[in-house]
Amino acid sequence: MAKTHVTMTVNGEQVEGLVEPRTLLVHFIRENLQMTGTHIGCDTSHCGACTIDIDGMSVKSCTMFAVQAQGAEIRTVEGLANPDGTLSALQEGFRMMHGLQCGFCTPGMLMRAHRLLQEKPNPTESDIRFGIAGNLCRCTGYQNIVKAIQYAAAKLNGVEFQEAAE
Ligand code: FES
Ligand code: FES
Repeated sequence: MAKTHVTMTVNGEQVEGLVEPRTLLVHFIRENLQMTGTHIGCDTSHCGACTIDIDGMSVKSCTMFAVQAQGAEIRTVEGLANPDGTLSALQEGFRMMHGLQCGFCTPGMLMRAHRLLQEKPNPTESDIRFGIAGNLCRCTGYQNIVKAIQYAAAKLNGVEFQEAAE
């Protein structure tokens, strides 16, 4: 099948490749770019493990073709750390609040939470729960993921995170 040349920016770097028209963006990222932080849990838009940031929106990268991302500005979990290599507030939150167990959902959760905090720097608990509703986690029961995002929001706002009494 004839291949198409695509270019896009991923984590600040210009990338390019030859793809078939049917190549999913998540496959381009994982296989052509060898960036395997973006996971594939279902391939059918249900689980959210493949969530990345495209042109300022959260997108499940199994739901679009690589050719549709021509010219796009993309961020994946590999681009989430601070520029000096230290953990971002969200990564630190997931670590400190035990927001993961097996870790399979975590890249997608982090990227979805990243966009959520861009859109709502002071989210309520229900904003967070609603915001991550498209991302499934089979391990944690979500409670510590919510706390991890609350931790990050507090840190980004320069206040100390206070856990709500249970
Ligand atoms: S792999 Fe894309 S939503 Fe599950
Ligand atoms: S930590 Fe295992 S699926 Fe979320």
